[in-house]
This record gives sequence, structure tokens and C-alpha cells, in this order.
Amino acid sequence: MERQHYFNKNQQNVYQVRDCFFSIADCIETMSQMPEGIINTIVTSPPYNLDKSYGEYNDNRSFSEWEELIEKVAKEAYRVLAPNGSFLLNVSPVPESKTKEIIPLDAIAYFIFKKQGYFLRNSIVWHFNNMQNCTNRLSGRWEAILWFVKDIQNYKFNLDDIRIPYITKNDKRLEGGTGRNPTDTWNYDIPQSDFWYFDRVNNMTKNKLGITEHPCIYPTPMIERIIKMTTDKGDIVFDPFLGSGTTLIAAQNLGRIGLGTELDAKYKDIIIKRVNNESILPMF
Ligand SMILES: C[S@@+](CC[C@H](N)C(=O)[O-])C[C@H]1O[C@@H](n2cnc3c(N)ncnc32)[C@H](O)[C@@H]1O
Repeated sequence: MERQHYFNKNQQNVYQVRDCFFSIADCIETMSQMPEGIINTIVTSPPYNLDKSYGEYNDNRSFSEWEELIEKVAKEAYRVLAPNGSFLLNVSPVPESKTKEIIPLDAIAYFIFKKQGYFLRNSIVWHFNNMQNCTNRLSGRWEAILWFVKDIQNYKFNLDDIRIPYITKNDKRLEGGTGRNPTDTWNYDIPQSDFWYFDRVNNMTKNKLGITEHPCIYPTPMIERIIKMTTDKGDIVFDPFLGSGTTLIAAQNLGRIGLGTELDAKYKDIIIKRVNNESILPMF
């Protein structure tokens, strides 16, 4: 498929890397020009208003501005998603800059998405350990992944593709069974397998991969699980806040077509480098 199947033909700054296409552009503007209903799954992590240095994007704004951004994204995304499509939104509880009061971005996002017509299918807890320790409150160790669907009666859920090992070898369900449901808490369920525990991408890993330039990168295996769960081979996966390109790597690895938009041009070469270096097999 050519880029014009996904992006408007006048869209500037569109690049192809392996079987993925991305644009250095604003996601809302870009989605408003995309054909209706072409995306099977949107998976993304927007800026959290934590004053991270993304470059072009100002990550230090009022929460009402943040809400406006998310509302526009939810609205445009609804149009480009297929009728049985999913939107998986990774957000976190975050401290407000002055008082340090915790703002539950997942709760705020829920009401925004609900207003746009989505249904919440799961509120997934992504648990990790490598994060700073707090001294005046409990240390934060989770983020939310809100799984929204357009149609609660009709959406893709490939449970068999994401099953995890049974707890004990003697488990009766083993006979003919293919594993158990990974549940909505993505954590260490059994000690001998860490398949569904996803560490945050810390500075050591970033150094190893040569990608120190982006402040917030989510783990590729976690996105692979989401893509397997909600799409089939050949489907289209879109990340409006592409950052360093993790979603494209996961899509490429699984034989899906990855699309993305990223506001800041400084990430262009990083995205291309990561998809080339970190994805495994060519798709077709
Ligand atoms: C949390 S980061 C995403 C990181 C990504 N998940 C990864 O693994 O690298 C959010 C990204 O959204 C980008 N961004 C902010 N506003 C945007 C917009 N309106 N359109 C496209 N990208 C935007 C920022 O520049 C930043 O790189």
C-alpha cells in the first residue's frame, strides 16, 4: 500500500520506514485529513503535563488545556477508527506542578472519551518497579492503559493470542488448554515468567539502544501485547503521539501496518533508526 491510502495526498513530511509510515506533523490536523474508518487500533501515550522537554510541544500547561488536547484527539480518532476499532490510551496519575497534588489523568480521560461515544472495555494496570522513591507519599508504581472501543457489541479481542502460562504444572486446564487470561493487572503473576511484567524504559536501556534523546519511551513488548490483542495481521495501527517510534516497531514485528504522527522533527531520524534496528522481520 502507498502512503496516499492513509495520509492525505497533500500531507507534508511523510516518511516510510520498512512497512510503516509516519508524518512529522500535528496529530489532530493529520487525523482530520485521514479517510474515515481506516484504523483498526490506536495505541498511544500522550504527554502527561509533567514539563518534559519534548521540544516543539510545551508540556507545562494548565490541565484544562491538556483536557482540550485529549478531547480533540478522542474526537478525530473516533472518525478514523473502524466500526470495530479500539483506542488504548496510556496515562498516569501525575503530580500537579505547584501543590504536588495527584491528578488522576485516567479518570479525567475516561469522561472525555465517554462524551465522544466510546465505551471502556478494561482499565488495565501496568505495574513496574523502576521509578523514583517518594518520601512524603506512597511511591507511584503503576500507570493506566484505558481500553476504549467504539462498539461494545463488536470489537476485536484475540484472547488466544495473548494467553499466559498456567500457574502450576498440574493445572487441570493444561489438558488441551492454551493458557490463561492475562487479566487486567499486567504484573508478575508467577515468578518463573516475566512475560507480562513490563519495566519502564530506564536510562540504562536507553543508553544501550542509543536512544537517549527521548524522555518517555514505553516498552515494546507491552505494545506488542496490545496489538496482538486487538488486531489481526495486515491491520492498521496508529499512534498519534509517536515519540521515538515504539508503536511502529511493535506493529512491524507483528506484521501490522504501523502509522504515526510526531510533532517534533528532531525525532524523525530516531524513529527511522529504531524501526530499522529494533524490528525483527520484514512484513511481506
Ligand atoms: C509521551 S511521548 C510518546 C512516547 C512514545 N510512546 C515512545 O515510546 O517513544 C509524547 C509525544 O507526543 C508528541 N506530541 C505532542 N503533541 C503532539 C501533537 N499535537 N501531534 C503529534 N505529536 C505530538 C511529543 O513531541 C512527544 O514526543
